[in-house]
Amino acid sequence: MICGKSPPDIRNAQAQSIAVAARLLADDQLVAVPTETVYGLGANAQSGTAVARLYAAKGRPRFNPLIAHVRDAAKAAELAELPELGRRLADAFWPGPLTLVLKRRDHAPISDLATAGLDTIAVRVPAHPVMQALLSAFGHAIVAPSANRSGHVSATSAHEVAADFDSEQVAMILDGGACRLGIESTIIDVTGEQPRLLRPGAIARQAIDAITPLIHGGAHGTTLDDTSRPRAPGLLASHYAPRARVRLDALDARTGEALLAFGPNAPHAAITINLSPTGDLVEAAAHLFSALRRLDAQGVAAIAVMPIPQHGLGEAINDRLRRAAAPRP
Ligand code: TXA
Ligand code: MG
Repeated sequence: MICGKSPPDIRNAQAQSIAVAARLLADDQLVAVPTETVYGLGANAQSGTAVARLYAAKGRPRFNPLIAHVRDAAKAAELAELPELGRRLADAFWPGPLTLVLKRRDHAPISDLATAGLDTIAVRVPAHPVMQALLSAFGHAIVAPSANRSGHVSATSAHEVAADFDSEQVAMILDGGACRLGIESTIIDVTGEQPRLLRPGAIARQAIDAITPLIHGGAHGTTLDDTSRPRAPGLLASHYAPRARVRLDALDARTGEALLAFGPNAPHAAITINLSPTGDLVEAAAHLFSALRRLDAQGVAAIAVMPIPQHGLGEAINDRLRRAAAPRP
């Protein structure tokens, strides 16, 4: 929180506060919203003023476009062309943690600032009932990046959002509880012949591959490893970073390090958080960001992270951890 300023207003996400949130959005204010992946910082997608406010509040570079959240595939089709490939993935995973990069329609009702002037647009139909209710009440697309300061760890609870912003930046936080999945959506570009994975996320590569084969490439089987020119413009090398230094593939903690452990039989350091004592990658993904924030809150200087298997959601977890450990700008 910024000293001297008050934190944003946190409200239980009942019908009344959802109606207030819809009015605030219509008034170009920012509202933080729960989704099944992480909290989003929502703004009226059609309003340049609201979107400019959003970039300013996050401290986000304006070349980094936003995800438009809509109620259903029919609403998505108002913003963008949904090719057969996209339709198949949408049928399988919407509502849910899938973001599709699509060709933007010529007169799509969305601010150019939100798409950073690109001719494509990232669209997602979230499953969280509070976000669905808000989308229905508001009636239009809501752009929402993860509700954290740019480059910082994503927020998976209302209190974590409140720690990154003040009431002048964010008019209201709708509290929908802890995010069920805890890691961002999987982003897939379907503007080409074959779908391309731009960001590993809450839907594992294998689940996408079962619907339609993804283009493979890159050292880790993704296309994102050239982080100097990322395909999703926001995927810069250093991201998701806690204050503490992060050391990967650690088998134990050194003096002064806290341990971010995984699986049974993990060693114990003075400060240890085990992402999943049973070795469950879905559970580990759900706990990752809150664990990094909790270790920061305890003031640890460095975090040693045990190896996480690369399969299933491990790919998304390792992607976030690599960026958390990358040299800071
Ligand atoms: O789970 C999620 O996706 C969360 C929740 C709130 O929905 N949102 C989220 O947004 O993670 P954000 O802004 O933190 O990440 C969106 C990513 C950025 O890396 C951005 O560069 C990329 O999506 N992106 C947006 N539009 C794009 C486009 N047209 N082409 C390629 N990448 C795009
Ligand atoms: Mg983010």
